[in-house]
Parts: sequence; structure tokens; C-alpha cells
Amino acid sequence: MKKEIIINSIEDTIALGEKLGKELNKNMVVCLEGDLGAGKTTFTKGIGKGLDICEIINSPTFVIMKIYNGRLPLYHLDVYRLDNESGDDYLIEYFEAGGVSVIEWADNISDLLPADFLKISIFDMGDKMRKFVFESTGYIYDLLLERVEL
Ligand SMILES: Nc1ncnc2c1ncn2[C@@H]1O[C@H](COP(=O)(O)OP(=O)(O)OP(=O)(O)O)[C@@H](O)[C@H]1O
Ligand SMILES: [Mg+2]
Repeated sequence: MKKEIIINSIEDTIALGEKLGKELNKNMVVCLEGDLGAGKTTFTKGIGKGLDICEIINSPTFVIMKIYNGRLPLYHLDVYRLDNESGDDYLIEYFEAGGVSVIEWADNISDLLPADFLKISIFDMGDKMRKFVFESTGYIYDLLLERVEL
């Protein structure tokens, strides 16, 4: 299933993330694509809100992963510096560890991803406008995507 949503402010990016965060269940994997500065980390801040995380979510680029505790644990990964050959197979443990995984630049580790996940591509349309393209595979993620709207 595919869905596109265009938004015009940082606040709306966070609000959209929050809507998604409220619908996420354990062991769900959300893959975020988009150029540098597209809004992947900003969107993740919204997901954190939806998961009732109080801590401030910042980019995990230099540490690869940060864990936050909310309604469910959030495993926030940024795999910008990794690739399929960099030997990071341990990361797959997190995808089934009972929390929610949000992965920036997930395409870089395509070999490690589970069969089904929600993929979100963010496009900078100029100024504060962003196009979000949601793509789901599998029944669980199709149902999830049906419930995500701004
Ligand atoms: N509608 C919007 N949604 C999200 N960010 C926006 C929006 N409009 C402007 N911005 C700006 O774009 C930038 C997005 O930064 P962010 O760190 O979220 O991007 P990113 O995709 O995670 O980048 P990186 O690839 O470096 O991790 C911020 O400076 C933010 O202020
Ligand atoms: Mg980021």
C-alpha cells in the first residue's frame, strides 16, 4: 500500500510523526529515507511523542543507535555510516526485541531488514514543504498505514 502526504511546517512533520507513533506496536520497524536535512530526525521526534517519550530525541549519527523509554522502547538508528558489508548484523536483534525500531538511511542496511516494514521517504519540496511517501508491505503494516493521517 502507498500513501502520500504533503505538509508545510515543522510542526506538521512532528504532528504526523506523533500520529504514527500512537499506532505503533511492538517489533514494528519504520525505515526513513530522504536526503540530508529532509526531516528524518524531526519526524522521529514526533514518533517519540506518540510513544510517550519525554526525553529529547537527537540524531544518533555518531553512535548508530539510541534507546528511549516510553509506552514502548524506541530504538532510534541512524545507519548513514554503515552498509551491508560493514558487519553490523547484531542490529537485527533490535528489530525483534519488543520495541519499535526507527531507522534513518535504512536502505544502507537493506540486507539486515526484516521481510515487512513501513518505509517512509521524505522529499524536500522547498522551504518548509515536505512530501511524505509511505509504503507498507504485509498485512500488519497495511493496517498501520490506513490509520496514519494528518
Ligand atoms: N516541514 C519540515 N519538516 C522537518 N524539518 C523541516 C521542515 N521544514 C524545515 N525543516 C528543517 O529541516 C531540517 C531537518 O533536519 P533533520 O535533522 O530532521 O533531517 P534529517 O533527515 O534527519 O537529516 P540527516 O540526514 O542529517 O540525519 C531542520 O533544520 C528543520 O528545521
Ligand atoms: Mg537525522
